[in-house]
Amino acid sequence: MSVKVYVPCDAAAVSVGADAVARAIAEQIASRRADVSLVRNGSRGMFWLEPLVEVETPRGRVAYGPVSADSVPGLFDSGFLEGKTHKLYLGLTEEIPFLKNQERLTFARCGITDPLSLSDYMAHGGYRGLEKAIKLTPEAIVEEVSTSGLRGRGGAGFPTGIKWRTVLNTSDDQKYIVCNADEGDSGTYADRMIMEGDPFVLIEGMTIAGMAVGATSGYIYLRSEYPNAFRTLQRAIEIAYSKGYLGADVAGSGKRFDLDVRMGAGAYICGEETSLLESLEGKRGQIRFKPPLPAIKGLFGKPTVVNNVISLATVPIILDKGGAYYRDFGMGKSRGTLTIQLAGNIKHGGLVEKAFGLTLRQAIYDYGGGTFSGRPLRAVQVGGPLGAYFPESLLDTPLDYEAFAEKKGMLGHGGVVVFDDTVDLAHQARFAMEFCAVESCGKCTPCRIGSTRGVEVIDKIIANQDRTQNLELLADLCEVMTDGSLCALGGLIPFPVQSAIRHFPEDFDKPAPPPPVTSPGNTQESRSWT
Ligand SMILES: Cc1cc2nc3c(=O)[nH]c(=O)nc-3n(C[C@H](O)[C@H](O)[C@H](O)COP(=O)(O)O)c2cc1C
Ligand code: SF4
Repeated sequence: MSVKVYVPCDAAAVSVGADAVARAIAEQIASRRADVSLVRNGSRGMFWLEPLVEVETPRGRVAYGPVSADSVPGLFDSGFLEGKTHKLYLGLTEEIPFLKNQERLTFARCGITDPLSLSDYMAHGGYRGLEKAIKLTPEAIVEEVSTSGLRGRGGAGFPTGIKWRTVLNTSDDQKYIVCNADEGDSGTYADRMIMEGDPFVLIEGMTIAGMAVGATSGYIYLRSEYPNAFRTLQRAIEIAYSKGYLGADVAGSGKRFDLDVRMGAGAYICGEETSLLESLEGKRGQIRFKPPLPAIKGLFGKPTVVNNVISLATVPIILDKGGAYYRDFGMGKSRGTLTIQLAGNIKHGGLVEKAFGLTLRQAIYDYGGGTFSGRPLRAVQVGGPLGAYFPESLLDTPLDYEAFAEKKGMLGHGGVVVFDDTVDLAHQARFAMEFCAVESCGKCTPCRIGSTRGVEVIDKIIANQDRTQNLELLADLCEVMTDGSLCALGGLIPFPVQSAIRHFPEDFDKPAPPPPVTSPGNTQESRSWT
């Protein structure tokens, strides 16, 4: 029987040479006339081990990594097709502690199956959720999602069941399901991983959403920086159509669901749902006033469910195993699992799917292994560019929406960006304001003007110009932006700025840096002579 060897096709693995590794393995298979089938799987989410190559053995899948193309002949020589040891040998994949100690519900198949094999998807529980949904009334599907306690994973944590019920209760004959795949938060990649590693789970989730609210059409709005995900989704959609899982009669249900992918143009603000809808309609990505909510008047003025990729990709397991099963994971009002994305200055960067309630410290140390530099950790930003900077003393905060809000932080999309003691929080505060100035859609004054003035004021604080007055002015400006901005970009950017001042005041109280030295050797003119 042919041996299966897995090499990830995930963009993170490809960025560190997975394609070259796959080619080298194919060459060895050909030259040795080995009976091997090479599968390009998704990533297991252990990025420090990528490219992570796996071999199926009678003991289970055995992992080797990080594998380079040069190391491939040696792997064959040492008998890796039988799972034998080698210096890159990592043992059974499922026994690697980073992976073993997770609760993978949404990511149950990611890295295990061939992303574009529908039969592999179905052999691992795929489309069981849809099968159950087909037998239920729309109300019962929505009820199951409500029971699960699922809250939107895009950032706001709004209950998905309530959103779906609002759309279900509208009487329009045309409704839409829109998947927010803009994933612009710093340090986040869970959406990308699932779209590249298990695209059918998103398609299934969107199809169930359509059946629940009475929508016959869906769009995935994809971040422009994700060309691999674009190709994978397009191919998966084609396959789903060809096998009757999309189109006029989804899985023999007599119900229609059509699906398409649209690529954004690279604006952070197009991740906000109303800007996204504008962009999807072919207009400039600018915020719409709310109300009306997209659930009432969304895409092309029709009732629309807008959900994040992970929210939608979690729906199949909820329908398959029941809302109560999913609700049993987690703590407080944060039910189910969170896809924690470890990034920044971290030794073991990667994806950890775990029930809500794990502390930030456990995520960073037990899974992430501490800082990559080995230096002491100084700050962590959770929740993307609008998230607060937490000091070491807040690391015991559980990953839970309410616990984070209590500490003036937010979980957002689950991105965790770690900084060591070389970070300067005054510069990070400036970076946050500058990010807002660059990404502002310009619709409201507090954000459009306030963010630019904010950068100037922080520059003065760093330069030690009237520092006390400028810190007061900055506090005032942050209050105006919080209270007066039309959307959460301007409204939440004070989070990182004020948390930096609150938790790291010493960084705002340093002597002014010396003015930049301009030597003749640094000028444009002199460089043009060299
Ligand atoms: C500035 C800004 C950027 C956002 N970016 C994203 C994003 O990239 N992906 C996402 O799913 N939600 C993003 N959101 C949240 C969306 O507006 C919306 O709440 C979400 O798509 C709803 O889906 P959910 O309920 O499944 O989370 C963003 C919000 C703001 C204010
Ligand atoms: S807060 Fe900023 S991004 Fe949001 S509507 Fe106002 S100008 Fe646009």
